[in-house]
Amino acid sequence: MSFNHELTPHEIVSELDRYIIGQHEAKKSVAIALRNRWRRLNAPEDMRDEIMPNNIIMIGPTGVGKTEIARRLARLAGAPFIKVEATKFTEVGYVGRDVDSMIRDLTDFSINMVREEYTESVQERAKELAEDRILDLLIPPAPSTPSPLVPNGPAGPQSETVSKTEEESLRSRTRDKFRTKLRTGELDDREVEIDVASDQSPMLQVFGPMGMEEMGVNMQDLFGNLGGNKKSKKRRVPVKEARDIIAQEEASKLIDMDKVTKQALERVQQAGIVFIDEIDKVASRSGGGKSGPDVSREGVQRDLLPIVEGSGVMTKYGLVKTDHILFIASGAFHISKPSDLIPELQGRFPIRVELHSLTEDDFYKILTIPKNALLKQYEALLASEGVKVEFSDDAVREVAHMAATVNEDVENIGARRLHTILTTLLEDVLFDVPDAFREDTYVVDRALVKAKLSNVVENRDLSQYIL
Ligand SMILES: Nc1ncnc2c1ncn2[C@@H]1O[C@H](COP(=O)(O)OP(=O)(O)OP(=O)(O)O)[C@@H](O)[C@H]1O
Ligand SMILES: [Mg+2]
Repeated sequence: MSFNHELTPHEIVSELDRYIIGQHEAKKSVAIALRNRWRRLNAPEDMRDEIMPNNIIMIGPTGVGKTEIARRLARLAGAPFIKVEATKFTEVGYVGRDVDSMIRDLTDFSINMVREEYTESVQERAKELAEDRILDLLIPPAPSTPSPLVPNGPAGPQSETVSKTEEESLRSRTRDKFRTKLRTGELDDREVEIDVASDQSPMLQVFGPMGMEEMGVNMQDLFGNLGGNKKSKKRRVPVKEARDIIAQEEASKLIDMDKVTKQALERVQQAGIVFIDEIDKVASRSGGGKSGPDVSREGVQRDLLPIVEGSGVMTKYGLVKTDHILFIASGAFHISKPSDLIPELQGRFPIRVELHSLTEDDFYKILTIPKNALLKQYEALLASEGVKVEFSDDAVREVAHMAATVNEDVENIGARRLHTILTTLLEDVLFDVPDAFREDTYVVDRALVKAKLSNVVENRDLSQYIL
């Protein structure tokens, strides 16, 4: 299973290094926080509950990797992860989402995650079962009741047995033939009629009256269980589709949902990570006059407090205790400061870590080093059309330089600037392939970068709109 506590802090940092350039302090803090959970789970039992997670506040301008670090960390840890915006929440009693919903969402995530792992493990079996059921549909089974018309004379039963076995073997040969055809995809487009359980259709969403969601009650579950027997409806679908639908259905029959729920709850409580973005936006700067939006902002902080401190949140899968969930808050803190948060909340985020503005040199690395580096993404995109893009080194340097310049002159949006610059730079070739551009290679050198971008970069008004 992907649930992995065992990376050491150094290993965590070097894993993060594969995706995020620089920001060493932030990586270090999150690595410690993650490892501390493993340490806690291995501490003496009577100490375990006393050890609190090291919640972190990441402070830094936009687009420098705050969200990316948290996201990658969660992925590394195989931990349930959600990202929420502090500004989406409103104080209890006002219209808007209540803070508890983040824990319910995190729990949903965990359930899905564990269910997927289980599904994965029964996949093979589910596929076999699906194959059998599709064969049943294609070759309806013989009527098993003995026909009353068969004369009951002395020779009767005898000849019936003979023809039965013959029929059987014929059937099984046909079945094998069809099985082969099924596997080679020959029957993919043939239509079959299947029962689709209506509670399976993932599109169906029932919105309950306000307040229901708060209690973690799902209307669909309520109604679904009312009738007792699940409704299903018949649909004609191609075999190709039927195979997936039936396999999914079989898989869910093979999975013990009680086990999934239990494990998912455990995982949320021991390993969940909640990333609260834009925390600075709910910090109020004015110390005195409490009116207008400040009331509600402080209210949000007060509502956050018990969750971050550790309390129980009722979800539709059961009670989730938040004591050991790791909270990572993040914000630019341009206008407000962490010290503008209410003191109790500050106390729950003992670790502060600053992320730095990215330099030209960072941009160069971001373009080239990470596993998912932008240049690699564009290379892959164009390779799918049979075109090889080649970026010369000085071209990449020039792009990095331009990104830094525009960030300085217009607005600092961090690494996101690279996206806007690259889309502008590559727009023509992306548009022309495969109709107008028919060569195998597209070389991007410094001259080309300059030709495509110089006048945009140098013209502040233009770059405001284009880049
Ligand atoms: N240091 C970095 N190394 C590699 N890629 C980065 C780095 N910083 C940002 N990026 C890339 O830039 C984009 C935006 O980064 P991210 O979402 O982490 O910004 P953020 O710091 O959370 O900003 P905001 O305050 O606006 O939420 C992502 O695509 C990310 O991959
Ligand atoms: Mg972010």
